[in-house]
Amino acid sequence: MAKLKVGILISGRGSNMAALIEAAKADGYPGEIALVVSNVADAPGVAIAQSSGIATAIVPHRGQPDRETFDRAVSAELERHGVDLVVLAGFMRIFSPWFPQRWKGRIINIHPSLLPAFKGLHVQQQAIDAGVRVSGCTVHFVTEDLDGGPIIAQAAVPVLADDTSDGLAGRILRQEHRLYPLVVRWLAEGRVSTEDGRVAVAGVPAGATLLFSPEP
Ligand code: GRF
Repeated sequence: MAKLKVGILISGRGSNMAALIEAAKADGYPGEIALVVSNVADAPGVAIAQSSGIATAIVPHRGQPDRETFDRAVSAELERHGVDLVVLAGFMRIFSPWFPQRWKGRIINIHPSLLPAFKGLHVQQQAIDAGVRVSGCTVHFVTEDLDGGPIIAQAAVPVLADDTSDGLAGRILRQEHRLYPLVVRWLAEGRVSTEDGRVAVAGVPAGATLLFSPEP
């Protein structure tokens, strides 16, 4: 069966991108990384993608007259490479409504909190400040509603009494690297469906779309 063509959008470090590139190398993985797009030319993730032999495209957001023009330029690159699924991995731009509509049901994001708690930025600090005992990460479909699209899967990570934002972020990140390749696999296998804003994964009980961190 043809592999699902994945396009990854980044702006920085690219550790989730690297986890997906690594996962896609495994025999029988149903997705291939067809393209990495960055809006930042010197993002460390771009060099990682290039050294793995992945096609890259730089689409700078500066100098574009408006958000939609930028979005259309990104989309054109994705289409040129035959991308089926858009995966946001630390992509630090907010789309115009056009982009999520264009890729509806074929665009996902990973966010370092258990949504709908703690949207936006600095979410690990938000979790610590709120005194929650558990946080984690969420993979969700991207809609016009920022950090608000249907949730596909989550991983739970304990918040420790003396946690720092960096410490918690690092432990969440390790779970992101487990969760994202798993969700891309489910999508590539055509097992993910959405009804009334709720996502089901065929053959995976709802409880198994929640991972638990093996770390304290
Ligand atoms: C991750 O924390 C992810 O949840 C958030 O942005 C960060 C990206 O990190 N959306 P990396 O570039 O994948 O290392």
